[in-house]
Amino acid sequence: MSVFLGIDIGTSGTKTLAIDGKGKIIASNLQDYPCYAPKPLWSEQNPDDWWQATIKSVRNVIKNGKIKPHEVKAIGLSGQMHGSVFLDKNGNVIRKAILWNDQRTVKECGEITDAVGGRNELIKLVANPALTGFTAPKILWLRNNEPRNFDKLKKVLLPKDEIRRRLTGEYATEVSDASGMLLLDVSRRNWSFELLDKLKLDRDFFGKVYESEDVTGNLTSEAAKLLGLTTDCVVVGGAGDCAAGAIGNGIVGEGILSTSIGTSGVMFVYSDEIKTDPLGRVHTFCHAVRGKWHLMGVTLAAGGSLQWFRNAVCLELFSAARKRKVDVYDLLTQEAEQTPAGSEGLFFLPYLSGERTPHADPFARGCFIGLTLAHNRGHIVRSVMEGVTFSLRDSLDIFAGLGIPVKQIRASGGGSKSAFWRQIQADVFGQKVVTINSEEGPAFGVALLAAVGAGEYKNIQEACKATIKIVKETKPDAKAKKIYDQAMPIYRDLYCSLKENFRKISSK
Ligand code: XUL
Repeated sequence: MSVFLGIDIGTSGTKTLAIDGKGKIIASNLQDYPCYAPKPLWSEQNPDDWWQATIKSVRNVIKNGKIKPHEVKAIGLSGQMHGSVFLDKNGNVIRKAILWNDQRTVKECGEITDAVGGRNELIKLVANPALTGFTAPKILWLRNNEPRNFDKLKKVLLPKDEIRRRLTGEYATEVSDASGMLLLDVSRRNWSFELLDKLKLDRDFFGKVYESEDVTGNLTSEAAKLLGLTTDCVVVGGAGDCAAGAIGNGIVGEGILSTSIGTSGVMFVYSDEIKTDPLGRVHTFCHAVRGKWHLMGVTLAAGGSLQWFRNAVCLELFSAARKRKVDVYDLLTQEAEQTPAGSEGLFFLPYLSGERTPHADPFARGCFIGLTLAHNRGHIVRSVMEGVTFSLRDSLDIFAGLGIPVKQIRASGGGSKSAFWRQIQADVFGQKVVTINSEEGPAFGVALLAAVGAGEYKNIQEACKATIKIVKETKPDAKAKKIYDQAMPIYRDLYCSLKENFRKISSK
């Protein structure tokens, strides 16, 4: 039997998934680790934690799936995008990695934009504007704020690519994740040497760029021993978690869009051609499909908003949930289901970590607006789910404005496991939402890329066609759709009314 592993270096943990050549899941394992916030809106992790979690999760999958070492033919890597791993000349990590949801680089984003003569020029070079979460401003932040660390800097890698280095010894990346560094010429699918030179960044900081299906190396004997595998096992390019999740959802053709509600929320649409948003509200990145692109909008705190509410406000529900042997989210959803669409005038703005799409505003803040004495916890939970979904609809409307066809919406991620939240999505989007047979997300997508790299399929489109099927449909309810269509302009207006005060609040 041939086995393919997908390893996803997520923000809350690393998940390893093993599939066979037909895409059947053999075993999976998740190992979690902490995230550090040394200052408000900073977010860091220790790359050694990712590595230990990778070793443990792979070993557990091999053991639990009763897989023989030589059966594992290839590994695909996926991971949280945009994070920066800073390495010195001996390959040692210089400081904790700065993550995708860190907002410390407002000044550096301005520096990058100025260095090229403005936002439009930057979009021409790298298809995207400078956003605080992206990697390039983090490198400049290191140069501006920790010059001693910057002096030691020899290589910069993305989270999954640091794991690739530890697996294969190669400094390499692939097009989809590299697009989110803000240093890739997204149309030519290689580094923008023009931008690197303008920013005075050493071209040698960055590894070789591959397509996602390509083999980037074999396991070293040390890594093979640690993982319990053989050095015949190859590691393919893989993909950033958004593209990997989209592959795992079968988003490999025109007109298909995926909506994913994890910690962040992602609206991801395939494109045969490179298309950019002149206003920079959505990202244009290379897809993990060879020679293709995608656009995506990101809500920074999607499932993260509900998780925040659960942890900050509903602690007493944890013991109740334990007693009833259910999840706290199930209890919260039951309360929300008792309330009507539109939460009786209560709005939630999900900007708990600032926001990317459509506002690209690190100063934006989360809020509940419209509270009255009539509102109970169920309304509040519902308004959180609705606010997150309104934010996803912002992306959908931007895609429509750019002339990108959306014929089918596929829901994925933890949030979409809830039938209630899927219904809210169908109602807010005003379109049918479908789900597919696999719920394994990015790890499944890169396991499929590994199967392609090992020659099991001709390309990723063929692999998706053979393994991915639609299993459920949620149709919009006409009454709820009408309520949400009326609520949407108010939701949009609230940010505009509050924008200036968000700035004042965050300067405190
Ligand atoms: C995408 C993004 C997040 C992270 C989280 O641009 O920042 O989705 O990849 O995993």
